[in-house]
Amino acid sequence: MSQILVLHGPNLNLLGKREPEHYGTTTLSELDARLREMAMRDSIAIDIRQSNSESTLVDWIQQAAEGNRPDSIIINPAAYTHTSVAIRDALAAVGIPFVEVHLSNIHRRETFRAHSYLSDLAEGVIAGFGEESYVYAYCYVRDSILCKSRNDGS
Ligand code: DQA
Repeated sequence: MSQILVLHGPNLNLLGKREPEHYGTTTLSELDARLREMAMRDSIAIDIRQSNSESTLVDWIQQAAEGNRPDSIIINPAAYTHTSVAIRDALAAVGIPFVEVHLSNIHRRETFRAHSYLSDLAEGVIAGFGEESYVYAYCYVRDSILCKSRNDGS
């Protein structure tokens, strides 16, 4: 069964209450439920995790490569986008294709948010569509999984 790992970074547990002008009013559990529902319909296994800790995110990325390697990672590294060489290095080390996601358009905000330590390694970056950013990322990953399995004849 195809698998997707979704990683939410720091402060995303506060979605719904946190700066709704940037991040909307949907809570993290509502967003996760939406992704789980889509994955269930598509018969794709989805593992969704959130941590405020950089080291935990690094551990989860490393563990993904050791266990049932997911086909793809969808990651919103949140503030670590702009600071974390460690998360960049972990993603580079495991070599699992990933999509970087942001709820807000990081290019329309403070200048420090415009730089990401991950974007040049990502398959793609989706930012600025609120919770739909995750949905678009999910649809891209699902379609590339389906495409690949059709081309492999599996
Ligand atoms: C964010 C943008 C980051 O700059 C910020 O630190 C976040 C959330 C987003 O989803 O728009 O926490 O990644």
